[in-house]
Amino acid sequence: MQDAVNVDDFRRIARRRLPRPVFDTLEGGAGDEYSLRGNRSAFDHIEFRPRPLADVSKRDLSTSVFGEKHALPIMLAPTGAGRLAHSSAELAVARAAARADAVYMQSTVAAFPPEQVAEASTGKLWFQLYLPRARDETADLLRRIESAGYRALSVTIDAPVFGNRERDARSRLLSRAPWHPQMLAHGIARPAWALDFVRGNFGPRRPGGKQRLTLGQTRSTIMNSSYSVTWEDLDHVRSVWKGPLMVKGLMRGDECARLADAGVDGVVVSNHGGRQLDGVPATVDVLPEVVDAAAGRLAVFLDGGVRRGNDVVKALCLGASGVFVGRPYLYGLAVGGEDGVYRVIELLRAELDRAMALLGAATVADLDRTLVSGARIPPTLSPSKG
Ligand code: FNR
Repeated sequence: MQDAVNVDDFRRIARRRLPRPVFDTLEGGAGDEYSLRGNRSAFDHIEFRPRPLADVSKRDLSTSVFGEKHALPIMLAPTGAGRLAHSSAELAVARAAARADAVYMQSTVAAFPPEQVAEASTGKLWFQLYLPRARDETADLLRRIESAGYRALSVTIDAPVFGNRERDARSRLLSRAPWHPQMLAHGIARPAWALDFVRGNFGPRRPGGKQRLTLGQTRSTIMNSSYSVTWEDLDHVRSVWKGPLMVKGLMRGDECARLADAGVDGVVVSNHGGRQLDGVPATVDVLPEVVDAAAGRLAVFLDGGVRRGNDVVKALCLGASGVFVGRPYLYGLAVGGEDGVYRVIELLRAELDRAMALLGAATVADLDRTLVSGARIPPTLSPSKG
């Protein structure tokens, strides 16, 4: 792990360490993976235009979101499959995020229940919500989340059904039992991973709590054809949840005014890391449209394809209030548990700091659209950050 100097190094080590079907579950996208690739390659179409002669001898990476100061504009996105990477899963991620003073948004379908993760962490936790199928359970769930100390809530709106993940369909990882001969063969080939996986399922690190959902249940109980999130659902969530409320999975600007009117405080421009509808554009290409439409009424976050501190800088220049990463910290988790996640955040932080200095920006507030160029960036110069 010490040899890894960037996120891609972590990815390569994770690929060696994990059984192929497990790596594919974390790595893969939907359909032809057009959107998955696009998220990444779109950053290559944005270039920096450094501002010379700025005093960057002291840099400040902190940022303010929803009235709270954060040490970093880099946040950890919700992922429901961390347990496949490491038995400590969300406990390790939350601890690493706390050490790095980064926000961690926990998934509804995490292995460990929200209370257990909150107990393990001294950091800032946000919660990602898949609405329970029995909608009358929503208020109870939200009260649990609030009393566990989660400070903000984000409703995922891009997953009415499960995306067409063909890598998973091929490997049948999610439907096969661990004792299936092919799964056993994978385990024998990756003994360190297999031992950790067994320990996580049967040993002391086994998650507690009544209401946890397993990965296999995700398909049947959450993302099924009856799981639409509607405006009425949002109104209900808004009436129960008093803290900052976001929606995650917005890919167009024209819904922003209505979302703001509905009392939503922020949006995450996201295509679920290319795992849901294949064929949607790259998130960073949609970001300026959403920032302009939000017009300062909503905080706008981005995720998808962020693998470098430089990508974070590009998104911030285009008006993002913060940037989430998903797979990068999962690679860290697979390679080194809590320490691996921490190291990934620190690598991104160092790249962010260096890129800001070279660009001529001493603070996050100094980052604006004049510092980037690219054919896909609309000509509007909106300084607005929600
Ligand atoms: C996810 N993502 C996700 N999103 C969500 O709202 N709830 C969830 O439970 C999950 N689970 C999940 C599992 C795995 C393995 C991945 C890779 C992703 C999507 C995630 O929050 C985020 O949108 C993307 O991961 C961002 O893209 P990158 O950073 O992975 O490229």
